[in-house]
Amino acid sequence: MNKIAISGANGFVGKNVGKFLARNGFEIVSLVRKGRTKTVDFGRTIISKNLTENSLIGSVKGSAAFLHFIGKGRQTVSSDYDTVNVSLTRNAIILCKKAGIKKIIYLSGLGVDQKSTLGYFISKFKAEQEIIQSGLDYTIFRPSYIIGKNDPLSQILSSQLSRDSVIIPGSGRYRLQPILVSDVAKVVMKAIHGKQFSRKIIDLVGPQAVTYNRFVRDLIGDKAQIKYVDFEKAYHDALHSSVSPFGVDDLSILVSDYIGDYGKLVSISGIKFTKYGEMLQASCLS
Ligand SMILES: NC(=O)c1ccc[n+]([C@@H]2O[C@H](COP(=O)([O-])OP(=O)(O)OC[C@H]3O[C@@H](n4cnc5c(N)ncnc54)[C@H](OP(=O)(O)O)[C@@H]3O)[C@@H](O)[C@H]2O)c1
Repeated sequence: MNKIAISGANGFVGKNVGKFLARNGFEIVSLVRKGRTKTVDFGRTIISKNLTENSLIGSVKGSAAFLHFIGKGRQTVSSDYDTVNVSLTRNAIILCKKAGIKKIIYLSGLGVDQKSTLGYFISKFKAEQEIIQSGLDYTIFRPSYIIGKNDPLSQILSSQLSRDSVIIPGSGRYRLQPILVSDVAKVVMKAIHGKQFSRKIIDLVGPQAVTYNRFVRDLIGDKAQIKYVDFEKAYHDALHSSVSPFGVDDLSILVSDYIGDYGKLVSISGIKFTKYGEMLQASCLS
């Protein structure tokens, strides 16, 4: 039972986890969209439009778990949260059932809960509920910012470096709790077979909470100037400007100061997590 199916295998997390599992003896079946196969250089890659093709069943059969890593944090008219985050999770569950895969591992988001009012979080909560009510065994992780080469948050910063200044919306005193992607891969590997992960929702957060101010300064050093932007302007730009580094939901999540339960993650996983200072070295901006 060392076979694993991964949806969204060409994404930042999918690639990192897939490579790590392949190095650790897992046979990987990667499900990606047409045109995205070349970016996956581990395991066997299969093209799927929306996880509903019957031809997928035979390919993923025998997998110990389905790692559902498809997700979207900015919606458009043609690709909204409900279609991507909720419907594709429903399709993943149906595929698991048809293929006899008993376990699904899902990446939700830190801060998601029943009282969420943000569109992105509502879609993640609905996806979580689909999984919980599916009857499958599951581990739902709620990650803070996952850091590594080409991670989405460093890319937001990197895109601003070329413009000589990096924006901090509002005060920058809100916190995040970054976790290194290689540690995420270790946790996911343990969750595949570890009984202690069964039917659990677990925050996926690093050892230290840092303010966005500090995070940006630590990452960019003297590569660019920092420009504080009034939150009202940042929000206006997020809504109306195609060159805004943030989308409205990115911005709302960033300033919400979500801090997770690191102690629970350590006690369930037994992993020694990379310290904040060391994880910065892995970012593409270091
Ligand atoms: N990275 C983080 O810090 C972080 C934090 C919290 C939660 N998460 C969650 O973790 C998961 C993976 O994140 P990531 O950082 O790896 O994101 P990513 O790099 O943007 O990857 C997203 C993946 O989803 C696929 N996808 C998006 N829309 C799709 C669609 N309509 N149909 C099929 N596939 C689609 C993408 O495929 P294409 O390349 O074909 O678009 C890609 O493989 C997501 O659910 C995300 O919400 C990530």
